[in-house]
Amino acid sequence: MGTHPFMLAITIFKLLLVFFSQSSAASDTITQSQPLHDDGSTLVSKDGTFELGFFSPGSSTNRYIGIWYKIIPVKTIVWVANRDNPIKSSNNSNSNNMLTITNEGNMVLLDNNNETVWSTNMTSLTTQPLLSPIVQLLDTANLVVKEGNNNKNSNSNSNNNNEKEGNFLWQSFDYPCDTLLPGMKLGWDLKKGIERKLRAWKSWDDPSSGNLTWGMLLSSYPELVLKKGSVEYHRSGPWNGAGFSGQPVLRITPIVDTKFVNDSDEVYYSYSLRNKSVISITYLNQTLLHRQRITWIPENKTWRVYESVPRDDCDPYNTCGPNGNCMVNETPICQCLEGFRPKSHQNWNTFDWSQGCVRSEPWSCRVKNQDGFRRFASMKVPDTRSSWTYGNMSLEDCRIQCLKNCSCMAYSNLDIREGGSGCAIWFGDLVDLKLVQASQQDIYIRMAVSGSDEDTRKRVLVITIPIVSSVTVLLLVVFVCIYLRKRKQKVNKTLSQSFGFVFLMFFLYVYVGNEHGTQNIVSTEDDEENQDFELPLFDLALIFNATNGFSEDNKLGEGGFGPVYKGTLRDGRDIAIKRLSRGSSQGIKEFKNEVILCAKLQHRNLVKVLGCCIQEEEKMLIYEYMPNRSLDSFLFDSTQSKLLDWSKRFNIICAIARGLLYLHQDSRLRIIHRDLKASNILLDYDPKISDFGLARLCGDDQIEGNTKRVVGTYGYMAPEYAIDGLFSIKSDVFSFGILLLEIVSGKKNKGVTYTSDTYNLIGHAWKLWKENDPTKLVDTSLEESYVVSEVLRCIQVGLLCLQHHPNDRPNMASVVVMLTNETILAEPKEPGFLIERVIPSEVESSSEKLISFSVNELSISLVDAR
Ligand SMILES: *[C@@H]1O[C@H](CO)[C@@H](O)[C@H](O)[C@H]1NC(C)=O
Ligand SMILES: *[C@@H]1O[C@H](CO)[C@@H](O)[C@H](O)[C@H]1NC(C)=O
Ligand SMILES: *[C@@H]1O[C@H](CO)[C@@H](O)[C@H](O)[C@H]1NC(C)=O
Ligand SMILES: *[C@@H]1O[C@H](CO)[C@@H](O)[C@H](O)[C@H]1NC(C)=O
Ligand SMILES: *[C@@H]1O[C@H](CO)[C@@H](O)[C@H](O)[C@H]1NC(C)=O
Ligand SMILES: *[C@@H]1O[C@H](CO)[C@@H](O)[C@H](O)[C@H]1NC(C)=O
Ligand SMILES: *[C@@H]1O[C@H](CO)[C@@H](O)[C@H](O)[C@H]1NC(C)=O
Ligand SMILES: *[C@@H]1O[C@H](CO)[C@@H](O)[C@H](O)[C@H]1NC(C)=O
Ligand SMILES: *[C@@H]1O[C@H](CO)[C@@H](O)[C@H](O)[C@H]1NC(C)=O
Ligand SMILES: *[C@@H]1O[C@H](CO)[C@@H](O)[C@H](O)[C@H]1NC(C)=O
Ligand SMILES: *[C@@H]1O[C@H](CO)[C@@H](O)[C@H](O)[C@H]1NC(C)=O
Repeated sequence: MGTHPFMLAITIFKLLLVFFSQSSAASDTITQSQPLHDDGSTLVSKDGTFELGFFSPGSSTNRYIGIWYKIIPVKTIVWVANRDNPIKSSNNSNSNNMLTITNEGNMVLLDNNNETVWSTNMTSLTTQPLLSPIVQLLDTANLVVKEGNNNKNSNSNSNNNNEKEGNFLWQSFDYPCDTLLPGMKLGWDLKKGIERKLRAWKSWDDPSSGNLTWGMLLSSYPELVLKKGSVEYHRSGPWNGAGFSGQPVLRITPIVDTKFVNDSDEVYYSYSLRNKSVISITYLNQTLLHRQRITWIPENKTWRVYESVPRDDCDPYNTCGPNGNCMVNETPICQCLEGFRPKSHQNWNTFDWSQGCVRSEPWSCRVKNQDGFRRFASMKVPDTRSSWTYGNMSLEDCRIQCLKNCSCMAYSNLDIREGGSGCAIWFGDLVDLKLVQASQQDIYIRMAVSGSDEDTRKRVLVITIPIVSSVTVLLLVVFVCIYLRKRKQKVNKTLSQSFGFVFLMFFLYVYVGNEHGTQNIVSTEDDEENQDFELPLFDLALIFNATNGFSEDNKLGEGGFGPVYKGTLRDGRDIAIKRLSRGSSQGIKEFKNEVILCAKLQHRNLVKVLGCCIQEEEKMLIYEYMPNRSLDSFLFDSTQSKLLDWSKRFNIICAIARGLLYLHQDSRLRIIHRDLKASNILLDYDPKISDFGLARLCGDDQIEGNTKRVVGTYGYMAPEYAIDGLFSIKSDVFSFGILLLEIVSGKKNKGVTYTSDTYNLIGHAWKLWKENDPTKLVDTSLEESYVVSEVLRCIQVGLLCLQHHPNDRPNMASVVVMLTNETILAEPKEPGFLIERVIPSEVESSSEKLISFSVNELSISLVDAR
């Protein structure tokens, strides 16, 4: 018919293409016409990572269908289809065993005798007949049943679109075995009513269901639970935004990204690998009774245990009994929470902690001064089965919510990130508490909270008087009644009744009167001080002991307001203590108020204030301790500075900006730091600003202050502050600008001389900026590894922050936007403090002082700089 030979060639080529694409696709699918036989043949996922086939584990002769990694030499079974329905091996041949798919879309496993051993048991959801259902092993190791691709436009692209979860008739990811693979979900699909949980193999050569399980406990505050049979064995603690509350804080970058979802459709946990070429899985081991994350080590061709849970003696569920707190580094590991005592001292002393602790201090619901909360830092929160959550509530409202209900015993934030949000409250006994080192999770536990010993004494008095008097009266009433009854004289009966009545009234009067009296006492005290229940007051003796008597060895440094010491409390917690200079004229009341305000400031980029210590002349602030050192010890050290690559530095810059923004604007108080500098930035997982709020606090209307006392560090102070003592949020912005240039250049603003000229860092930066060569400023230890656009942006923002006139400097909100968004930046004018070294003659009297202090790089505290 005159077909062109060329067209014929094309047709043949097309046919060949179709043939090859089909034959290569066949290796990862089972169809009705191509079942999988037990003759050594297998399915292999498209990318070749996973393989499915028949196998016999260990010394067993039973035949199972399973999935394992094809790309590693150690056969690691990650999923078994018929774990509880093995095919007994026959002596002849196993090759008639087969896995196939029925018309209805059910996967079935047939043995040698053509009997169904296992099946997916789906009842048909649709009335329509299925279009040639197939079984396919996906690259994720998910074995799925779906409709075959009979549509005409089925090419590989639309194929991928098809591979969304909802499109599968069945998937193995809904029926996990003992292994959680990346991308698998552990938890509940509430719409389909499926619970996906892990169940260990009985032993290494028997895949049938063991009794160690790992699943999601549904509640208002869901969490993951390991169980032995029906017995709870270990809780992860609920998800707090940054991690599970019982999980130790990792000092290294984790290899997986964790996802936790809680909505009306699904509640699940899953993870993905940060580096796709790493092989890592989580599985349950019945023999060890552990859940382990193992990672494949290609060099050594073995699995290595990355994490094993339970991790320590405190991890098993409820180790210390109700209201007990487990602390791994203590002996014994169990301690009662502050304000509680062992229920049975005898048992407790023999290390039998099962009965837990009971209150040791009197507590009365909603009675003023006998009802409050004490903060416990770094805790794994209690069992959430007795909790309730409010998604959108602030911590303060959460506290109020808890106070309303007399069985509410504790509250905390749901999400600890960004300074905390959401609310969880607990009822009844608090079960399975643990101290988690360095965790950011706080919990507030209800108790009678006293500020100091003095308060305790007052409270005891206030309580004992009404109790003693009412008990006396009650006894009297009972005694009189009994006495009169005994005489059994009818005449006296009415008399005794009226006697009783009179006494009862008297008793009520005394009792109510006393209640009333209590409140009167309280209200007179109220104006005296802003009593905050949550602020822990530390005892001077305790601090003295914790710091080894303020020894030089424990001294961490010296700031503008006094020295800082490291201390270790008896419970093993490390704290940092700021011993404020005695010269401070502030009264105890003012001081306390300020500490309370500071303690309320909570942000990821601020060091947490734990409490204070006020005794006699001493005033101290207690902070959380940051084990890593401060920014200056890295930045200005030629070897350490190499550890700070550009992305870390940029991250630090943004973190400081966010922390400062919070201080200036987002917190309810408006706080001007006044001593921002590299040594006040502590490096941790999140960089944190310390020493904030030490300077005078100002109200919302008081953005600018004028102070007699200049506190700050030479080299960081804005001109108007150093010279006129005029501080404002803009003087902080100036200090931030310096800090920014220091981070970029790795040089101190002060104390560096540039050979070409006598400019300081600001001057040097400005000169290079004008010469259009700002990248020369960049720290040489960064070499070429930085992102030029980010560096340029930082330098420009830095110069804008250093403008001479405060009004020309941006506020921190704009700084954050300028740093993170590709907005067009203003062109900086000549910065302030260009004149090197000495401040001009406007400051006559104190200029000498300034210089002399600046020599040894200490912070200065000048009184009356004006
Ligand atoms: C299989 O063969 C072994 C010996 O070869 C024999 O002991 C066993 O009973 C046989 N099992 C079955 C099921 O035939
Ligand atoms: C297996 O049993 C099915 C019906 O249950 C039958 O249709 C099929 O032919 C049998 N196959 C063999 C190989 O006996
Ligand atoms: C299928 O149903 C049978 C009987 O209801 C049950 O014994 C078997 O465990 C089920 N199989 C699966 C895989 O759910
Ligand atoms: C559990 O751990 C032990 C010891 O590491 C190991 O020998 C065993 O194979 C593991 N069990 C399973 C099911 O992997
Ligand atoms: C769990 O199973 C093991 C044997 O596999 C058994 O010894 C143990 O008692 C079981 N535990 C529970 C709580 O059922
Ligand atoms: C989890 O989701 C449920 C339902 O959407 C909600 O009521 C509950 O507050 C959520 N819990 C948390 C901790 O977000
Ligand atoms: C991912 O892991 C592989 C193998 O361990 C390693 O060679 C590679 O550098 C890693 N990639 C990244 C981005 O870390
Ligand atoms: C491999 O094994 C050797 C010897 O057991 C060990 O020294 C080395 O650290 C291992 N390598 C890795 C990457 O674990
Ligand atoms: C939660 O808070 C946000 C912002 O504060 C608000 O827009 C939203 O409506 C709140 N949601 C609920 C359910 O109250
Ligand atoms: C701190 O207290 C412990 C135990 O109470 C005691 O052994 C130690 O000597 C004390 N240290 C100081 C410096 O007082
Ligand atoms: C950055 O710009 C985008 C769009 O212009 C905006 O949605 C986003 O909120 C900005 N980010 C910040 C931190 O302002």
